[in-house]
Formats: sequence, structure tokens, C-alpha cells
Amino acid sequence: MDHLFLGSIAHSKSLDDLETIENGFLAVKNGKIVGIGDRASLPAEYSSTLPVTTLTSSQFLLPGFVDCHIHAPQYPNIGVGLDLPLLQWLETYTFPLEAAYKDNDFASKVYSAVVRRTISCGTTLASYFASNYKDSSLILAKEAVKQGQRALIGKVCSNASSPDYYIEKTEDSLRDTETFINGVINLKSALVKPIITPRFALSCTSELLTGLGGLATKYDLHIQSHISENCDEIKAVKRMFQKGTYTEVYEDNKLLTHKCIMAHGVHLEDAELKLLKKYDTAIAHCPTSNTKLRSGFCDVRRLLNAGIKVGLGTDVAGGHNVSILLAIHDALNVSLSLNIIKKQNILGTGQIQHPSDDCNKDYQALEYKNALYLATLGGARALALDNVCGNFAVGKEFDALLVDISNKPLDLFDIPLSVAEKSSASHSRLDKMIQKFLYVGDDRNINKVFISGKQVKNHSD
Ligand code: GUN
Ligand code: FE
Repeated sequence: MDHLFLGSIAHSKSLDDLETIENGFLAVKNGKIVGIGDRASLPAEYSSTLPVTTLTSSQFLLPGFVDCHIHAPQYPNIGVGLDLPLLQWLETYTFPLEAAYKDNDFASKVYSAVVRRTISCGTTLASYFASNYKDSSLILAKEAVKQGQRALIGKVCSNASSPDYYIEKTEDSLRDTETFINGVINLKSALVKPIITPRFALSCTSELLTGLGGLATKYDLHIQSHISENCDEIKAVKRMFQKGTYTEVYEDNKLLTHKCIMAHGVHLEDAELKLLKKYDTAIAHCPTSNTKLRSGFCDVRRLLNAGIKVGLGTDVAGGHNVSILLAIHDALNVSLSLNIIKKQNILGTGQIQHPSDDCNKDYQALEYKNALYLATLGGARALALDNVCGNFAVGKEFDALLVDISNKPLDLFDIPLSVAEKSSASHSRLDKMIQKFLYVGDDRNINKVFISGKQVKNHSD
């Protein structure tokens, strides 16, 4: 749990501020960061007392990735069944699979693999949806504790608009949720906590939503659900609850809090952005599933400009990869696509037309530094855990990745440059290494993963 790293280090301080230290040090004691800075300012006490790891020139440290939204039981479906929009996809592929988690042996096998794979891909903090079943949901919590992953785990609640083979009675859902909460609390883990998880407004009555809001208050818990993902879903929610907006349904049931994160928010209205901001409720941006399930393009810049906290989610298995790296790629692609659509009309004539509308002209697509922030500190903020992790600020726990860009799939070349070219280079060597990892790298480039100072991945895993 004690370490002293010497070498290249990078971490986000805010959406636009990525600090890069080329020849730096990072000191960890009892799992917590006690010092970070230029090697020249390394205090002598650290080099004499802490075990030293000297990074090679192709290695650097990054904060661990935060997956703000992942459905662990959907992992066996990853990569299949992406040919339907949300509501039909749920009925056809997802509910039948989740119903299988009544079987604890099946759950153990899948959950052990999900936690292992996500850690291997660099996810040091995940907010998991489990299934309706409290016993197998507790198995997921135990697996995260066993493998040392920081996690929020939710027993899913659904008592409406669901098939008869996968639906709960209101009182059972509330009782099982409370039993599950106490089960997780009794694990006495510093890393793993329960999270209140109504599946989405459409699958819950007001009575259930109110009861779950009450449990969140009683135990001071995090809350997660889905919001405004798909146009048919939004229409159905407004019809079912007779409300002007989707967000008001959650507000009415006391589910909007600063420890609440809602997945998607693709089609939120301006008034809903104001409500989310008022309660400091976050959005988990899941660009991969938003495209694959044809839900829409979420305009993250609009959410950020409205002052809403945003993190990234894989949304497995609506998203088809457990790695946050794909969420980074897709967040950038969606943002660039929106930028192109907003700024230009491509007419098929080889001509580009700029819109007259000034606001669209100034639209700023996300850049890789912004996406890295969303994948780390932004995610930790969205889960209201940025006092604990998300970057390398002194006092936080050491959740980190040791990245090596000399491993496959990357090939490295020393490009011979003239002195003039070198001095005019706009990106530092470390900036380039980070870009290579984010755009081209994968889990093979993550040699080690640390959570709370403990190494939880070896390169061979
Ligand atoms: N809305 C309700 N349930 C789900 C789910 O499992 N995945 C996604 N993407 N959206 C949902
Ligand atoms: Fe989801």
C-alpha cells in the first residue's frame, strides 16, 4: 500500500486542465497520495522510506477509469442483440437474460468475470446495476470486495411495465432492497457500497419510487436510474405519470439528490436541465449504447454548459465493450459529429454551408483532454466520490493505472526531428503518449491497476 513512483504522471484537475508531469514523483502511504510533483522537489523522507518503482520512458501513471453506468448481468449478451431500439431490446434480449440471475451459480460465474474484465480494462470505480434478485445482487457486491474494486452496487427494482417472469410486487421490492442494503453494509467494505436502483420510471409505480426515495434518505445512499434515453420511452413515461417532463417524475418522488446519477439524458428539455442542476444530480453519458440502440446523440457540451456533472458509462450490454476507452472514443465521435452537423450543412455538392445561427457556429466539440476528464475526475464527481478518488490530489486514495505504450497494439518509432521541428512541437512527449493510449491503446497497455494503493491487476491477468 506504500509506493514511490518516479517518471511521467498525468491527471485532470478540471474539464480543461490536464496536468502532465514529465519527470515527476508520486508518493503513496497507506493507500493514500501524500505527495506529487517534479522529481527535483521530491522530499528525501519519501525516497528513503517508500518502495520505489521507476517508470520506463514508454510508461506513465493515469488515474483509474470510472464507469458510471454498467449492467453486470447483461455481460453475457455483450456484442449481440444490437438490432432493436430500447423498449423492444429490453423485452427481446435483456429481461430474459436478467431473469436467469435467480440462479446464484450462474450469477457467481458471470459476476466474477465482469469484475475481473473491468479491472483489467482499468475500471477502478464502477456503478453497477445488478438484477431484481437480492441474493445474486449480493454476490456481485461480494465479488467486488473480493477482487478489490471500488463499486456502488444496486439491486434493480421493477414493479410495472415488465414481463410477468421478471417483475416484483411493491412490498417485496422494498423489503428485498432493504435486506440487500443491510447485506452490503454488513460486508464492512470501505470500497463497496449499496446504491438505490429503480430500473427506470417506466418500470416503477409512484408508490415504489417514493419508497425507494425514503430508503435513500434513511440510509443516506446514492441513487441511480435511467432518464430520457429514447423518444418512445419518454412518451410512455409522460403518459403513465401524467407529467410535463420525465425529470419531474423523479423529483416528485424525492429521487433527485447530489448523490444521484441518471444514465443517458439524451433528450432532456431545458427545464429539466435546470431541475438537475438545482438538485446537483449527475448524468452518466453512455455514447456507445445511445448510438447502438439508436436512442440519439447526447449533447454533452450542452449538459456541461448547464453546470451539470457528467461522467462516462459503458452501459454494457447496450454498449458492447466493458472498457471505458470505447466510451472515450464514442464520446469524442458523437461530439465531433454534433459539431459537424451544427456547423456545416454538407450538401453533396462538395460545398460547406455555415449556419447563420451564432450559437451553433461557436459549438465546441470535446477534445481528448475533456474526454479523459469525464472518464476520471468527472466520473468521480458525478458519483459524488471526488473527495476520495478521480485524480492524484494529495489526500485522495491511490486509484491508478500504470500504462505502457510500448506493448501491443501500439508500435513506437523515434521520429528523427530537426531542432526547429522539436522546438515548435505543440504537444509534449507525454501528451502524445496519452493521446496514443486513448485513441489506439487497449487493456494490453494497462500493465498494473491500483485501487486504494493495492495492486489489483498484473499485466498477465
Ligand atoms: N432502461 C431501462 N433498463 C435499461 C437497460 O437495461 N439498459 C438501457 N440502456 N436502458 C434501460
Ligand atoms: Fe443502462
